Amino acid sequence: MSSSSNQEEEVEAMMPPQFEAFRRVKRLRLFEPSLNVLVFVVVSAFVVCCFFYLDNRDFGTRLGFMNQPSEKRLTWLKVKGSSNNEEEHRVEFIGEKGGGCDLFDGKWVWDESYPLYHSKDCSFLDQGFRCSENGRRDLFYTKWRWQPKHCNLPIFNATTMLEKLRNKRVVFAGDSIGRNQWESLLCMLSSGIPNKDSIYEVNGSPITKHKGFLVFKFRDFNCTVEYYRSPFLVLQSRPPTGAPGKIRTTLKVDKMDWYSSKWRDADVLVLNTGHWWNYEKTIRGRCYFQDGMDVKMEMPIKDAYKRSMETVLNWVQDAVNPSKTQVFFRTLAPVHFRGGDWRNGGNCHLETLPEPGSSLVPNDNWSQFKIANSVLSSAHGNVSEIMKLKVLNVTLMTAQRKDGHSSIYYLGPIAGPASPRRQDCSHWCLPGVPDTWNELLYALFLKHEATHIWNS
Ligand SMILES: *[C@@H]1O[C@H](CO)[C@@H](O)[C@H](O)[C@H]1NC(C)=O
Ligand SMILES: *[C@@H]1O[C@H](CO)[C@@H](O)[C@H](O)[C@H]1NC(C)=O
Ligand SMILES: *[C@@H]1O[C@H](CO)[C@@H](O)[C@H](O)[C@H]1NC(C)=O
Ligand SMILES: *[C@@H]1O[C@H](CO)[C@@H](O)[C@H](O)[C@H]1NC(C)=O
Ligand SMILES: *[C@@H]1O[C@H](CO)[C@@H](O)[C@H](O)[C@H]1NC(C)=O
Repeated sequence: MSSSSNQEEEVEAMMPPQFEAFRRVKRLRLFEPSLNVLVFVVVSAFVVCCFFYLDNRDFGTRLGFMNQPSEKRLTWLKVKGSSNNEEEHRVEFIGEKGGGCDLFDGKWVWDESYPLYHSKDCSFLDQGFRCSENGRRDLFYTKWRWQPKHCNLPIFNATTMLEKLRNKRVVFAGDSIGRNQWESLLCMLSSGIPNKDSIYEVNGSPITKHKGFLVFKFRDFNCTVEYYRSPFLVLQSRPPTGAPGKIRTTLKVDKMDWYSSKWRDADVLVLNTGHWWNYEKTIRGRCYFQDGMDVKMEMPIKDAYKRSMETVLNWVQDAVNPSKTQVFFRTLAPVHFRGGDWRNGGNCHLETLPEPGSSLVPNDNWSQFKIANSVLSSAHGNVSEIMKLKVLNVTLMTAQRKDGHSSIYYLGPIAGPASPRRQDCSHWCLPGVPDTWNELLYALFLKHEATHIWNS
């Protein structure tokens, strides 16, 4: 593995992470002040219309945050209240009757008891995720809880999770959105630990290091929560000898990342890949796809993605011990650039509310989602696979959260509020949406533990 370090650097230089990419973008003028006002008015009008048009069962609750309405107003707003009925029929997911509940079928509900932690109390966060510290004023995005339709999620308890993780390893492998989720879990778990000095990176590396891997240890529980940067999950390395000179690297769609040897023995493994499967991050950087010994110059990106997903699933099937390791695959977290993409003026600034029932932004045509879905679903239909891999099927719920991105708040206020900024509409503010993914992870993890106990 040490021999690949030079090469890794080359790959890094060639394929900067998303933040780097933003930095290179031509600066854009965001809004003129008058346009700013206009946008605000239009957005407000739109939001109000949404409330009145959607068949919205949480009508009262959702308006509730706007200015703490009185009991009377809430009653008035409770239209066609089927919600009580629904609540009565909900079971506890981790109870014995909860097994059949689809956690991912549900809705976002306003919950005053959130967030689960505050970014200023958590030292394990990149600056880019600290939205409120970076100047974002509305905290609405921290207040939404995911409510499955047919069951209740267990309330996250850091101590409970750490007790169950004693002497164990949790590993996240994937792109920077995976890192977003990993940092979220570090904050959620550390909120249960008074002595923060008992949590440390085993090699003393700072959290800002974005290459390779980071291993955080919770000393009192002898538990580690680790992140491996591997945006494709499959191996990216030198082209085969004799390949055309214009090829700088190849993605071996039939081979796992070298690091996978470190993932294999984790107790909980959370994989993701998706955002790097595009032209910009592959062919444009002279990275082509390779299957076996052959470089496939013409291989479409979506085919390479599908092939790689199959490689990942086969690896889970063949290399991972299902009685030790719980494997999760988190599906794609949609981006929300409106009016362009990250290069040409797309934005998500001023989005302060979720959009129930929304689909993805129009220029993202779900093709990746469909591919991942078909690969995962076919694996899911297979009884021998179902035991091995659980899908964190977050795509649709996350699509509704255009309000949760770092937008202009991925940077501190250094440049001053008036200066034009690029926007990050792919990463997420923390606390925020990735906390929910981790609450779902927590629920599935506890469920697994409980089932284990019932069975033995
Ligand atoms: C978390 O669980 C522990 C027991 O594992 C319990 O003592 C504690 O009160 C719980 N914390 C909260 C906030 O519910
Ligand atoms: C700590 O956890 C590791 C697994 O991550 C295990 O191999 C080791 O035996 C544990 N140490 C103790 C003292 O239990
Ligand atoms: C959808 O995605 C595919 C593959 O990336 C692309 O070829 C196609 O043009 C896209 N369609 C639309 C309507 O954007
Ligand atoms: C994820 O959820 C969507 C919507 O409920 C569903 O269509 C899809 O099949 C699910 N995917 C997987 C892999 O479970
Ligand atoms: C299920 O998975 C096993 C192991 O990968 C494979 O041998 C079998 O053909 C699969 N079955 C179906 C119906 O796909």
